[in-house]
Amino acid sequence: MGNKALPYFASGPVIRGFGRGSKELGIPTANLPEPVINALPNDLDTGIYYGWASLHGQVYKMVASIGWNPYYKNQKKSLEVHLLHEFQNDFYGEELKVIITGYIRQEKDFSSEEELVKAIKNDIAIADERLEEPTVNKLKDDDFLFK
Ligand SMILES: Cc1cc2nc3c(=O)[nH]c(=O)nc-3n(C[C@H](O)[C@H](O)[C@H](O)COP(=O)(O)O)c2cc1C
Repeated sequence: MGNKALPYFASGPVIRGFGRGSKELGIPTANLPEPVINALPNDLDTGIYYGWASLHGQVYKMVASIGWNPYYKNQKKSLEVHLLHEFQNDFYGEELKVIITGYIRQEKDFSSEEELVKAIKNDIAIADERLEEPTVNKLKDDDFLFK
């Protein structure tokens, strides 16, 4: 599922999401703006993905959620990226580049925030491991992340 369009390259300035990311869940996410979402290919299914991200030429592992966040019943499709790194500051407005390299699972609805957080922590563990596989690992050196 969701694999025909991969790896998928996207970039744009980080915008504010609905503001739940860091405060409520303890998992801050960077949202990408509408034109980036509208450009996503139709055969890239909604769901949870892993890949590489760069900010200021610094590369990080990431997990991304593409879809409508059923737990929050969003009306608008979003592309949210969580970087596997602890940042001291927000980076709204800064250019974020991502390479989406693999699919993890479908978006789900959860009966509590605790379950959502548990699922995301599991996604992070999966991403951390799969990004070590040689074929996806080498994408962290792709020119796209540095230009
Ligand atoms: C790796 C990852 C997995 C996610 N999985 C789900 C999910 O299965 N269901 C869901 O409703 N939202 C999911 N989310 C979205 C969170 O609900 C969202 O990041 C949170 O609401 C923060 O949104 P905000 O930045 O727009 O405030 C996921 C987010 C990430 C980063």
